[in-house]
Amino acid sequence: MLILAIESSCDDTAAAVLEAKTNTVLSSVVSSQNDVHARFGGIVPELASRCHIEMIWAVVNQALADAGVQLDDIQLISATQGPGLVGSLLVGFTFAKSLALVRGIPCVGVDHMAGHLLSCMLEEEKPEFPYTALIVSGGNTSLFSVDSPVNYTRLGRTRDDAAGEAFDKVAKLLDLGYPGGPVVSQYGQKGDATAIAFPRAWLSKHSLDFSFSGLKTSVMNYVHQRRQKGIELGINDICASFQAAVVDVLVKKTIIAAKSNHHHRIVMGGGVASNKQLRTDMQQACRHAGMDFFVPRPVYCTDNAAMIGLAGYHHFQNGSMVNPDDDAYSRSPLN
Ligand code: KG4
Repeated sequence: MLILAIESSCDDTAAAVLEAKTNTVLSSVVSSQNDVHARFGGIVPELASRCHIEMIWAVVNQALADAGVQLDDIQLISATQGPGLVGSLLVGFTFAKSLALVRGIPCVGVDHMAGHLLSCMLEEEKPEFPYTALIVSGGNTSLFSVDSPVNYTRLGRTRDDAAGEAFDKVAKLLDLGYPGGPVVSQYGQKGDATAIAFPRAWLSKHSLDFSFSGLKTSVMNYVHQRRQKGIELGINDICASFQAAVVDVLVKKTIIAAKSNHHHRIVMGGGVASNKQLRTDMQQACRHAGMDFFVPRPVYCTDNAAMIGLAGYHHFQNGSMVNPDDDAYSRSPLN
């Protein structure tokens, strides 16, 4: 079955073509808006929607051309229905529904989280079910038990900022640009992760929830104090110590979640899952705990349409379809 997938939940316009039965990604195109939002130090929703409108046809056409197929060959359209920025979602979701209606192709609406939960299945080495998944991005930091391609139970989530959001805010504070994750991680590689004892929010003993706003405030206070006193900031050490505080909590809570669910497999997804330190530390912790670890390549960690095509295929097989008047949603029922 040939699937055209569309993703526009935030600031990337993405389209992909998949051969679902053989699980082959024939093309995956992502048009990034980073340059548009960089000077604001974060995403401006209205600008994001406008950019999606400008790019959607071009990105879809590119995905079809890269895959060497025509629109007539497509047997299913799969599009992100939510969660995300509603203005952004509406562009991709309405485009998908309209194309499906005009062409008489079935269409399925996909939860963005479901895409991240299954993104590791786009790789050759796939986990069996069930597994514990950490989804960690600019908008979400959540733990799930994934029992089948269409059954997920949330185990914990952030009570305030998402981990990626914390990376972006620390980068903004240090004038390092947007998006913050990659650049903070680069500076962090040159610093000493034990230089500054930033706090780790473990919350209550058995809680699988996260909290990153206290850490962010602690970094802000540290930076302001040094600026006021005219002391050199030591950006490398700040980035390394901040990153260590985030990674430490993510790794330990994920291992606890897997143990308490008797899972032997851990999966990661979302933009922050491309962080080198997080990948290395999670791999080590899994080895230590006797668990298998699966994380997709960074291109399938950050927002992409291939994962939406894969999740859409499974939900379609399970009986899901969208109606022309179905709406996009900003908050995930999964989360
Ligand atoms: O999943 P994603 O592409 O988009 C949404 O959240 O919608 O994730 C983007 C987030 C941003 O906050 C970005 O700063 C973060 O992922 N990110 C990283 C890295 N690469 C991207 N954070 C830490 N280290 C990285 N290498």
